[in-house]
Amino acid sequence: MSEALEENLDFSLIRAQFPILDQTENGHPLVYLDNGATSQKPLCVIESIDTYYRLQNANVHRGVYGLSERATELYEGARETARSFLNARSTKEVVFVRGTTEAINLVAQSWARVNLKEDDEVIVTEMEHHSNIVPWQLLREQLGIRLTVLRINQKGEVCLNALKGLVSKKTKLLAVTHMSNALGSINPIKEMVEIAHSVGAKVLVDGAQATPHMAVNVQDLDCDFYALSGHKMYGPTGIGILYAKEALLEAMPPYQGGGDMIYSVTFEKTEYNVLPYKFEAGTPHIAGAIGLAAAMDFLNEIGLDRIAAYEAELLTYATEQLKQIEGLKIIGEAEHKGGVISFIVEGIHPHDMATLMDQDGVAVRASHHCAMPVMQHFNVPATVRASFGVYNNRDDIDRLVIAIEEAKAMLL
Ligand code: ALA
Repeated sequence: MSEALEENLDFSLIRAQFPILDQTENGHPLVYLDNGATSQKPLCVIESIDTYYRLQNANVHRGVYGLSERATELYEGARETARSFLNARSTKEVVFVRGTTEAINLVAQSWARVNLKEDDEVIVTEMEHHSNIVPWQLLREQLGIRLTVLRINQKGEVCLNALKGLVSKKTKLLAVTHMSNALGSINPIKEMVEIAHSVGAKVLVDGAQATPHMAVNVQDLDCDFYALSGHKMYGPTGIGILYAKEALLEAMPPYQGGGDMIYSVTFEKTEYNVLPYKFEAGTPHIAGAIGLAAAMDFLNEIGLDRIAAYEAELLTYATEQLKQIEGLKIIGEAEHKGGVISFIVEGIHPHDMATLMDQDGVAVRASHHCAMPVMQHFNVPATVRASFGVYNNRDDIDRLVIAIEEAKAMLL
């Protein structure tokens, strides 16, 4: 990776935005490489939430006084930021939820529960996170649907021809991750959408891992649903977005009942509110939405294409360095891959490895990464995973390598 690229990205300016990185762990400067689990937060996000609670807090859509009107403007402004970030047609298509998990459960229990019946099929890939498997298993228990798995190859990729062979008139939904949290594989969503649409199936994309790393254009992808989590893309926890095509949302029943999702209520009958409020029961996470919009502005300001190019070079550098470590095997070598490296080291349990790496100040995740079927596919109990963010650089990768070598020296 060229230093020019780091300069081009104003790397030191970006890193200075993250106060949490400026600390030591076990006597070493912290190297944070667990961005797949959650990213750190830049000052602009922290300050937007701080300012909201200090100066702007009131409930939204309810008050006629100035403070409430301003809070409503900020909340709805955040929705417009999200619409533009995803290039959705309308803010009616942007529903604030708790995160990707809630978004997927909403689609399962609202859209799918009404539109699917016994023997209808949902296809998921073998690389899905549990949050894009279990909601469909719950639906299988409720409706008797079929859950079919699109297998991956030994590099951790899906095969478009295999998908073509799998879909049929019975297929009602393809639920697929944009980028695998456990392998880093980036799926060819546009092509997968075309295949699913050719048999009349809808497509739900789990975008939790993709949105911090690449530009997402839902109209171009033509997906029917797209889910994301704020905390993985430099925003707060507890806030995310479900994008869905307006016609689908219009026809879907509410997911939860409560305040703000209604137009009128009597004991006999409730009329629901217009989109997207029909799906936002109760006081929303106002500060979360504002913080998420600040995170999206942060990403836009740097430019997602520049981030993608920078992280691709970082991934290449890291892959080259890790491959030189004896006994280390990378799990997941997809052609099209984001900034995630999962690995195992012969003779060492991933948990022991990660625990020792923490002693060197290097934070990585060791686990099945909530993707147990991926571990089953590669026949490993767990992997160590280093996942990159926009504030990581070659020095962090060098520290990663040293920490692995030191752990090996202690354990082998
Ligand atoms: N899904 C998150 C991860 O991959 C928690 O670590």
